[in-house]
Amino acid sequence: MQEINQDLKEILVTTEQIQFRVKQLADQISNDYADVEQLYLIGILKGAFMFLADLSRHLKIPNVVDFMAVSSYGKTATTGAVRLIMDLRAPIDGKHAIIVEDIADSGKTLKYLYQVLQWHNPASLKTCVLLRKKKDNLDIPINYLGFDIPNAWVVGYGLDYADRYRTLPYIAELKPEIYA
Ligand code: PRP
Repeated sequence: MQEINQDLKEILVTTEQIQFRVKQLADQISNDYADVEQLYLIGILKGAFMFLADLSRHLKIPNVVDFMAVSSYGKTATTGAVRLIMDLRAPIDGKHAIIVEDIADSGKTLKYLYQVLQWHNPASLKTCVLLRKKKDNLDIPINYLGFDIPNAWVVGYGLDYADRYRTLPYIAELKPEIYA
């Protein structure tokens, strides 16, 4: 049993489950892109930093990592307004790229990023998401998915509440009284 931080209700995905699944995803991606000269992994900050680091280390194909950062106008906003606050270092025109995200909640961030990156005219663009909260109503398909999780506030393995808990090695549900 892993020790649990007192602000957390329960561990939803253990360190072992994460590591096992991340390696599976990396193997799958390595097979699917075996004939590609170079794969571009685009990590979305901050949440995806840990997932991207582990995923890329398990890949058996040549790859480049780059990052983007976005900010959404409030988690409760229904407008879907997402703002780009850090762009790629280099364009991905003609490249094979995968967006690497920690979580798809409403799916608005993924949809925005997918549209922005399509403007670059990549050779192909897919999505790799560790956690998905809702199975339906995502506008953008998730090509590589880690886990479906319940509709709870989750932290750890890159995910935060007020920038805390990101470096926990597991995914856990936060106690409601912490964010209420
Ligand atoms: C989180 C997460 C995704 C997004 C998902 O980012 O990392 O990027 O929310 O939510 P959505 O599906 O409802 O759009 P956040 O804005 O919390 O920033 P962070 O990654 O820097 O923590």
